[in-house]
Amino acid sequence: MFRTLEEATPDDWRVIIEAEAADRLQRSTGERLLGLLASMRDADPLGSPINLYAHSLQTATRALRAGEDDELVIVSLFHDLPEAFSDNHHGLLAAGLLSPWISERREWLLVQHVDFQQFHFVNHPRPDTHARDRFAGHPFYAETEHFCRVYDQNSFDRDYAALPLEEFAPIVARFFARPRPPLRPPCAPRAGRRALVAK
Ligand SMILES: [Fe+2]
Ligand SMILES: [Fe+2]
Repeated sequence: MFRTLEEATPDDWRVIIEAEAADRLQRSTGERLLGLLASMRDADPLGSPINLYAHSLQTATRALRAGEDDELVIVSLFHDLPEAFSDNHHGLLAAGLLSPWISERREWLLVQHVDFQQFHFVNHPRPDTHARDRFAGHPFYAETEHFCRVYDQNSFDRDYAALPLEEFAPIVARFFARPRPPLRPPCAPRAGRRALVAK
């Protein structure tokens, strides 16, 4: 067994490559993300009316019921998943997780939704509620504003009848069943793309 990568032999690499390929065939990226979200089912709500798991289901249910496309439903379902382990950069991390599978405008939405969401923190003691203003005129502004106002900021309602996670499984399955996109570093701008984190 090697102890450093430089010691790994061609046989070691063959074993690793075969094991990784078999593992990826067993469960799609979407199934793995569903598993991560499911693991948050009983998480502490940390003072909110509902926890992140319920908030995610509620946001995605609103998007689905509004007739949004599969991509936005997927984005809604996983938009706050990284908040379980990273607060400040959860939008950037969510974009990184989904980046190979989604369009540029939904990547942008995921990264920037954190600033757009602050517009609705009207009684919070700290945030800059106008953080989103620096994006005025941006081509993806309107959809991000709509996502936060209509699906996200209002999804802390204990009485809302959100769909259970299982209802999203077929959407996740068909969305991630598409041909695997080319590998690239998460959040690396594709050719001709703008940088994800705008100044
Ligand atoms: Fe968020
Ligand atoms: Fe959210």
